[in-house]
Amino acid sequence: MDIPSAWDSWVGEALARLESLKVLRSLRPICLRKQSTQLLVENHKQYAPNLENDVADDEEFEVFDELRPWDRSSVEVEIGEPTFNKWMHDIPSPGDEIVHSPFISKDPQSHHQQLKKLILFSGNDYLGLSSHPTIGRAAAKAALEHGMGPRGSALICGYTNYHSQLESCLADLKKKEDCLLCPTGFAANMALMTAIGSIGSLLTENSIPSKDEKIAIFSDALNHASIIDGIRLAERQKCVKVFIYRHCDVSHLNTLLSRCRMQRKVVVTDSLFSMDGDYAPMVELANLRKKHGFLLVIDDAHGSFVCGKNGGGVAEEFNCEREVDLCIGTFSKAAGCHGGFIACSKRWKLLIQSRGRSFIFSTAAPVPVVAAVHAAVKVAKRETWRRRAIWNRVKDFRALTGIPVTSPIISLIVGSEEKALQASRHLLKSGFHVTAIRPPTVPPNSCRLRVALSAAHTREDLEKLTAELSQCINFQDTGIYCSNGYARL
Ligand SMILES: Cc1ncc(COP(=O)(O)O)c(C=O)c1O
Repeated sequence: MDIPSAWDSWVGEALARLESLKVLRSLRPICLRKQSTQLLVENHKQYAPNLENDVADDEEFEVFDELRPWDRSSVEVEIGEPTFNKWMHDIPSPGDEIVHSPFISKDPQSHHQQLKKLILFSGNDYLGLSSHPTIGRAAAKAALEHGMGPRGSALICGYTNYHSQLESCLADLKKKEDCLLCPTGFAANMALMTAIGSIGSLLTENSIPSKDEKIAIFSDALNHASIIDGIRLAERQKCVKVFIYRHCDVSHLNTLLSRCRMQRKVVVTDSLFSMDGDYAPMVELANLRKKHGFLLVIDDAHGSFVCGKNGGGVAEEFNCEREVDLCIGTFSKAAGCHGGFIACSKRWKLLIQSRGRSFIFSTAAPVPVVAAVHAAVKVAKRETWRRRAIWNRVKDFRALTGIPVTSPIISLIVGSEEKALQASRHLLKSGFHVTAIRPPTVPPNSCRLRVALSAAHTREDLEKLTAELSQCINFQDTGIYCSNGYARL
């Protein structure tokens, strides 16, 4: 049997078993009714002048052809003096100083004088969509028409026509048969890993599964915490064995796969690593998949909407979308919103919605958020200049520093915690928000500054940032990603 059909048949058998146990779960989409348009227009004229328009063909989503003033608010922030002082002295804060500070007066004039302006280089809003008016308008319109809630989990009554429309839009983008929205990207990874683990327990004849019935999960050493936690949860079902391969090391992975006699193999990896800014070896993984017949799962949290000509993500960039079996994504990064998804086949969707606990037992995303994400996906697709802009900023950074960066996540490894903190403080004083990343997020002595670029940054922002960076770190001595094989599991 070839790879997809072997996995297809295992998923099919698992579904049959769930059916026989009467625990196969259904999504039951409900169509939300709008409030009467006339009533809405009367009540909300001042907020939403075009509420008369009905939803939602592509033309409704207003797009622009270059950066506009509002885009800057996705990279320009202000912090109060107490926050500045705490950060400078590395004093832990529960965040209450902004609420209670006597510094922040109600007088708008003095308010602005006491805030420090910063250019944000630590967000994940890669396309600068978090401040896009079309997206805000979509959220406002849906909130006025339907209120906030989905009123339940997707399996009860929280799955609406908005959710279903967004899923098909994402399935198209990711070239998959279907898609399942999840509360967050974290929840998406948890749901998928537990669903994969459940195949082992559903297909076992006895209470203790044989080696052949177990699932072997091969996970990159630097995978995101949500994959790690998902695998840990799957392991508790006693039907999963985990193998950690050295970061992006295809030859190590190949050795582990060759030695493994288990039939059901899964390889899971971040596509673009969030703390290191390097890519999974996609083409090599696609080739290994042919050789070993594993299920290939990628977490494309940082690549979706940014990489590839159409924003289809890292798999599109490396021309291997067909070889990726399941693709996880989030809306909390380049879409500038909130929520997660799993693009997959219809069979997998049915299994995850029946077994993925973080999907099943969590309320579906609020309708205004889903409407906003839908608008964001459309805008990201049509405003292609945003992708060009962010990749130009990557080139600018390379040219200004000589560091061969290849993605909008730039991980400047400086070594000790103190060095990273000093550099972060220097940047803060100079008006840049760049956080120092320290253990346990990264291995000891690989503390770093994580600089994240956005389409809303200008070349001038980068010139100023790199000039300040050069005052506190030596570009020649700086590592750009960690490859020491440290396993966070
Ligand atoms: C690689 C990766 N996967 C998953 C997540 C979780 O996404 P979310 O913020 O939607 O929970 C993140 C973000 O923190 C991430 O970096």
